[in-house]
Amino acid sequence: MNKDKTRNLRQALGSFPTGVTVVSCLDKNKNPLGFTANSFTSVSLDPQLISICIDKESFNIDSFSITKHFAVSVLSEDQQSISTTFATPNEDRFQNVEWRTEDTGSPIIENAVAWFDCNTRQVIDAGDHLILIGEIIAFDSSPKTPLMYLRGNYVNLGLEQKMLLAMENENTKIVVGAIIEWHKKVFLLKDKTNKSLYFPSASRLGHIDDNDSLLGILKNLKISINEHYLFSVFEKAEDKTSLIYYRAQVKEALEDMDDYFYPFDDIPFDKLSDEASRIMLKRYIKERELNAFGIFVGKESEGKVEAISKK
Ligand SMILES: Cc1cc2nc3c(=O)[nH]c(=O)nc-3n(C[C@H](O)[C@H](O)[C@H](O)COP(=O)(O)O)c2cc1C
Repeated sequence: MNKDKTRNLRQALGSFPTGVTVVSCLDKNKNPLGFTANSFTSVSLDPQLISICIDKESFNIDSFSITKHFAVSVLSEDQQSISTTFATPNEDRFQNVEWRTEDTGSPIIENAVAWFDCNTRQVIDAGDHLILIGEIIAFDSSPKTPLMYLRGNYVNLGLEQKMLLAMENENTKIVVGAIIEWHKKVFLLKDKTNKSLYFPSASRLGHIDDNDSLLGILKNLKISINEHYLFSVFEKAEDKTSLIYYRAQVKEALEDMDDYFYPFDDIPFDKLSDEASRIMLKRYIKERELNAFGIFVGKESEGKVEAISKK
């Protein structure tokens, strides 16, 4: 299949929202192995079967193709960093992760939303992947919110809901802003003196027909965006304003928009209106390179991404 077709297929498949799991087993020396997988599916209730698909190019394919047991841990929304760890090449992914074993000895991630400890029932050859069918020997689940994956992005359902509630509360002072990208360029507005640059923002996310809302302002600037994702939530120390930033990609831009878009490698950071914006934009560019976005929750002065549960 040519590159375009593969990309289009990935895009189409990515429009099916999934959870995120870590699939794990022990190698022949009893070392824990694991990788991030969203191909987890329930297969049968009687007998109790689940399946996952593993890429034949996978570093640990030899162990997974012959393992007699494996486990699947469903990650919670504050375990996004674990998902990243298990999707990134690393000698020992379990080093900084808490895990335990249950019946089969396969590693199970602590505090997962649910886990399934399995005997391998079948390994099916399927194109460039193997399908592992597991017979569930033990399992458990909790009411935690699962991490979700959609169109190549992690989606934080719990935080989105909290933000919507905060936005509806009239007593909370809120600024809603957007980091908008178009072909590795970022959209910034200039103040009247032409000295300072800032992200478009408003007091609410709103709707394209609401002129004072962020979506209305963008529409009036003739910027049409695809879906937007939560990127940063923080509180301004001086006046306790809550700042909520989304990220989005331009769907269609007018030809004369070039004036407003700054290439990633040529952004006049010193002109950005405040330090929080600088930190956010630097983080955005870094995460775009990795194509793995996190959600920052915390104080404006801090540059690191925190687990949402620590809020
Ligand atoms: C959200 C997400 C879902 C993934 N799902 C799968 C999957 O179902 N099967 C798979 O083989 N790789 C999947 N991957 C990719 C692997 O996690 C990644 O390639 C990992 O590095 C493979 O392990 P290895 O380094 O041991 O080869 C997924 C990655 C992410 C971020």
